[in-house]
Amino acid sequence: MPVTDTTTLKQQAGAFAADIVRSGMIVGLGTGSTAIHATRRIAQRMTNGELRNIRAVPTSRATQAAASELRIPLVSFADCQRIDMTIDGADEVDPALNLIKGGGGALLREKIVAQATDQFVIVVDESKLSPRLGSLFAVPVEVVEFGWQAQVRFLEALGAKVRLRGDDGAAYRTDQGNLILDCDFGPIRNAQDLASGLSARAGIVEHGLFISLAQQVVVAGNAGIRVLPAESLQPSSPSAHPERGWA
Ligand code: A5P
Repeated sequence: MPVTDTTTLKQQAGAFAADIVRSGMIVGLGTGSTAIHATRRIAQRMTNGELRNIRAVPTSRATQAAASELRIPLVSFADCQRIDMTIDGADEVDPALNLIKGGGGALLREKIVAQATDQFVIVVDESKLSPRLGSLFAVPVEVVEFGWQAQVRFLEALGAKVRLRGDDGAAYRTDQGNLILDCDFGPIRNAQDLASGLSARAGIVEHGLFISLAQQVVVAGNAGIRVLPAESLQPSSPSAHPERGWA
């Protein structure tokens, strides 16, 4: 079987999820190299008249800029009671659909938007699937600058190898101006307990463990698209994917 490159898989996952969006929805737009394909496909469906009256909430400044360029109307998060559907990427997905997110640094806004969303759909290529969170990816932890070294000691005491995110001596800053500590815990025995411990700590603004938030995960792999839990999504434009038997 020929191997499909990762960029194509990301494009397939994003487009598949974007085809579930229906006219009239408020849509959360995720951040990253997979979610951007969903954003582009939503814009394309709006342009060709398939989708009408869409309003979007971006999860980062980068996504806001992309959505504006694609002429997707934005709505202030402050004015939204609920978001109908959010499509976002992930860095790691476990069998219970718990996630590590934040590789792109947008974890705080992403989690705020996810928690306000009725249907939170994750799009990944199959390399992100993992038997246990922490096996593939370090957990990003967003911390305030004040006393960040104390958070490093706290996280090390929990068993993490900690790295301050940055390049060439300059620390990376989130959209909120905070720092990110990438915490390699190795395979995490109890992600819920770890998430609770991190959330309770002053100085930690948010962490990249997304527990029990994803309702569906669209996985693009060499053998095609899978939806987890199995067949839980129905594209609203079945003709877009006739080869998958949705028609
Ligand atoms: C952004 O902060 C992240 O949560 C991304 O959604 C995640 O890192 C996945 O990104 P890619 O789709 O670029 O791998």
